[in-house]
Amino acid sequence: MSRSDGGHLDYYKEFGISPVRYDLSDLGAHFDRRSSLYNQLGLPEIAFRGCRVLEVAPGSGHNSLYLAQSCPTFLDLVEPNPAGIKDILETYKKYNLQRTEPVLHKKKLQEFEPTSLYDVVICENWLGALPEERQLIKKLATFVTPGGVMVMTIVPLSGFMPNILRKLMANRIISGDMNFEAKTELLVRAFGPHLSTIKGMTRSHVDWVRDCMINPHYLNVALPLDVVLKDVGAKMELLGSSPSFNTDWRWFKSLSGDAWKFNENFYSNYVSHSHNFVDYRYLYPARTATKNEHIDGLCNQLHDAALKMERHLCEGHSWAQANPSQVLKLVEEIAKELLEISPHFSDALTEAGEALAADSLDVTNIANQKYFNALFGRETVYVSFTRRKDPV
Ligand SMILES: C[S@@+](CC[C@H](N)C(=O)[O-])C[C@H]1O[C@@H](n2cnc3c(N)ncnc32)[C@H](O)[C@@H]1O
Repeated sequence: MSRSDGGHLDYYKEFGISPVRYDLSDLGAHFDRRSSLYNQLGLPEIAFRGCRVLEVAPGSGHNSLYLAQSCPTFLDLVEPNPAGIKDILETYKKYNLQRTEPVLHKKKLQEFEPTSLYDVVICENWLGALPEERQLIKKLATFVTPGGVMVMTIVPLSGFMPNILRKLMANRIISGDMNFEAKTELLVRAFGPHLSTIKGMTRSHVDWVRDCMINPHYLNVALPLDVVLKDVGAKMELLGSSPSFNTDWRWFKSLSGDAWKFNENFYSNYVSHSHNFVDYRYLYPARTATKNEHIDGLCNQLHDAALKMERHLCEGHSWAQANPSQVLKLVEEIAKELLEISPHFSDALTEAGEALAADSLDVTNIANQKYFNALFGRETVYVSFTRRKDPV
């Protein structure tokens, strides 16, 4: 196992990959999916037309095609990964649509200094809670014009929890002397049956395995909503999310000046639904903040323990030396806590815990899991913010 501190980019560049290509075999369906996402975020197609739009970290550029065909005034893309840049150029060459031609800035966000503000700023599936990344979240928010919108992704710990466990299983079955292709092949065999349970998946298993299970930076993508709220500042007001978990029954006539409190209202809905991020297949009634903060706290501890184990494994320690006992204890506690909601959680987590506790674990054990196989969180949550204007 190797560990990179340079984030996704160093890893992508090392292997010449951009593992974020989507299924474009039915372009209409692809645009429907993008449109559904942005509708949930409060951005119908007209919100892009005639606007100044920026997408940072567009990866393959597949998602930006939807923005381009909405005909913004201009569309800036900031992408530093050579493999991603190649995909973007090929994508725009292949699809000859009526659109605004994007301007591609082949650089990092750290190096990008725009000359004017944007109406819409988008950055999906990239930034986590590492200190440098939090600075970049702040930087993105400064690009938004007053009254404009910023779209980004967060990763709540409860939604991340199932894949934290998969990442540990992956770390356990791959060995340092395997090459990249061998790791990919092995992990696709292990997790392919898990991924096949997901109906709406639009990424290949190879890309998923490379982006999540082999990517040494993957555990750093955790990004709870409270961290983002601190970073973007009170001027950025939550507008929407996908999935949509916010309800707001306040009378709009009571909402002026300091009474706005959109972020507070949104955040309390987020907390009371945080158990609903654990399994994308189900929706349960809201719970009290105290109960859900407890689950979030345990998932947070699990994340810390997994990072610690990963560090030990990278330093060449064996699985036993990396001391899985803390992880195992937390998995048990989370299973016990979630049992109150549904027994299926505890069946799945008990199976995962047993796999991590076993003396040996191999591809077949993982591939044949009966309960944990279909447990995937609502791991990536999209959120939109509006930049509040100064009072008149
Ligand atoms: C997981 S991919 C997400 C791609 C795309 N947004 C999506 O949702 O499919 C992360 C993206 O961040 C880009 N990236 C990494 N470091 C970056 C940086 N310093 N500045 C801008 N983009 C960066 C990567 O090259 C990659 O395209």
